[in-house]
Amino acid sequence: MAFGNRLFKALGITNRSELRLFAQKSGISVKKLEYYNEEGILPSRTDLPRILNVSGLSELELKLKLGIIDNFILNAIGEHSGEIVKLIEEDINVKSEDYAYKRVFETSLGTLYQGDCLSLMDDMEKESIDLIFADPPFNLNKVYESIMNDKLTKQEYLEWTEKWVLKCIDLLKEGGSIFIWNLPKWNTYIANILNQYLSFRHWIAVDIKYRLPIKNRLYPSHYALLYYTKGDRPNTFNEQRLPLEICRHCGGDIHDYGGYKDKLNPNGINLTDVWYDIPPVRHSKYKTRDSNELSIKLLERVISLASNEGDIVFDPFGGSGTTYIVAEILNRRWIGIEIGPTDTIIDRFNDIGFHRSLIAEIQRNKNKLFTEEMVEIRKQNGHWLPETLPKRKNKQISLELN
Ligand SMILES: C[S@@+](CC[C@H](N)C(=O)[O-])C[C@H]1O[C@@H](n2cnc3c(N)ncnc32)[C@H](O)[C@@H]1O
Repeated sequence: MAFGNRLFKALGITNRSELRLFAQKSGISVKKLEYYNEEGILPSRTDLPRILNVSGLSELELKLKLGIIDNFILNAIGEHSGEIVKLIEEDINVKSEDYAYKRVFETSLGTLYQGDCLSLMDDMEKESIDLIFADPPFNLNKVYESIMNDKLTKQEYLEWTEKWVLKCIDLLKEGGSIFIWNLPKWNTYIANILNQYLSFRHWIAVDIKYRLPIKNRLYPSHYALLYYTKGDRPNTFNEQRLPLEICRHCGGDIHDYGGYKDKLNPNGINLTDVWYDIPPVRHSKYKTRDSNELSIKLLERVISLASNEGDIVFDPFGGSGTTYIVAEILNRRWIGIEIGPTDTIIDRFNDIGFHRSLIAEIQRNKNKLFTEEMVEIRKQNGHWLPETLPKRKNKQISLELN
């Protein structure tokens, strides 16, 4: 039971019997009070007056205690900022706890540390990183080999999240980019933090089914990949193009290109903000139960898109080190850290030839309209290819179609 959460704290509820008593006095069930407390949301218009009545708080006071700040309150805070700073100055200068980290592995391009990313980030040079990719734990009550507690209350998880996100923002160079991978629910909160400091570029929906359907819910089918930049434009945006989507069995067209086939860009179609071609990693030899390895293809795309050779890439949540191995192969400098065991990451570097061949394969299959494999199957089944289309006399505009 999260008695440390803001609502119960505001109402002076510190244990189960106080909770039952409050429920009795207010006529609101224990279950509902727990729900408001866990979610950190303002009680409904029916329940709110009862809560205010029993607690003796005003609505504004309760909102402030819960951290629910609408624009009206925000403007008032702005008006009185001087007085407020004096009141809270002492409270906010509390230094965070220091956990040690140590260097465990190095290449000519990168360094891997073992320890807590918050401490490492405190010691890194501000505005020194070109690209950050972060795939934090999702707070799903997983058993981690590391000391990481993956079942925090929502409030604890969001407070911890805010800490590492703010540190990442500080590390990013002007024009640098940050990508954050998470469940859509958590990324709504993370976007809220990023919106205050960085420029929004995209909410990328990566189409991967990761759960069985749940009753009374939509079938969750995408991870959210947030993409933000420091300043109004990114230093690097290397266009990435994909082959045409075709039928896996016969190689035929899935979409109708009508009379525009010969206008399709020979380098492939535009990458959109819905990525449907990223495979889930289920059987990789490097996937361990607690590291949740991401696909090499995903990292190859992000790193190629938002950085250049020699740039510095940072990932605060190593896992099995997908970001680092891809950065190394693509000739980016990199900095990595993992709080749990790092042997899986080091094993991957010892097997770098295998990863080089995976990346070479990914790169062979991008930035073209048809891969070699696609050309073969289309030829076999008599589907059109750019060279089999009748030549048009009058090619004025070159349209790019998806
Ligand atoms: C979802 S996994 C990352 C997987 C990684 N993207 C990959 O493809 O292999 C998150 C990792 O962050 C690690 N972690 C959690 N808290 C951390 C912290 N404070 N500092 C460093 N690593 C942390 C966990 O042990 C876990 O291995």
